[in-house]
Amino acid sequence: MLRRIDHIALLVPDLEQAMALYREHFGVTFNGRERNEEQGFEVASFAAGDGHIELLAPVRPDSFLAAALQKRGPGIHHIAFEVEDLDECFAEGDLSGLRFTRDRAQRGTGGSRIAFVHPKSLLGVLLELVDLPKNTPGPEGAVGQAEAEGGNEDATAR
Ligand code: CO
Repeated sequence: MLRRIDHIALLVPDLEQAMALYREHFGVTFNGRERNEEQGFEVASFAAGDGHIELLAPVRPDSFLAAALQKRGPGIHHIAFEVEDLDECFAEGDLSGLRFTRDRAQRGTGGSRIAFVHPKSLLGVLLELVDLPKNTPGPEGAVGQAEAEGGNEDATAR
């Protein structure tokens, strides 16, 4: 069911500072930077193997990420696995008994569909399942895919 790690999302208090840190020490090149006004955060990403690392930072105090920072400090926010077919995952029943942060499938960026397993169901880990669009031309690697990390305001309460 879990094919590969699509991305690991790191929660940081200051995006500029975090980007500078990764540039300085690891020489990474950031591919995308996107601001989600609705949910009050900003995300920047760089490639790591065939996946990517996302840096997430709140841009206003009422963002769910500001609450998460307050509660737990910076660190790993979630791990995202690519799955073959999200609907199939649910249909097969393997996921039954797991708590999800919202309705199961939400819309991610670029036509992807995502779902978040609540950390209370998975020993403290917020796990994202990503079903990438099948009609994407070429191995675009999902880099710079700054998805709306939707639906996880409730996941900060673990
Ligand atoms: Co994510």
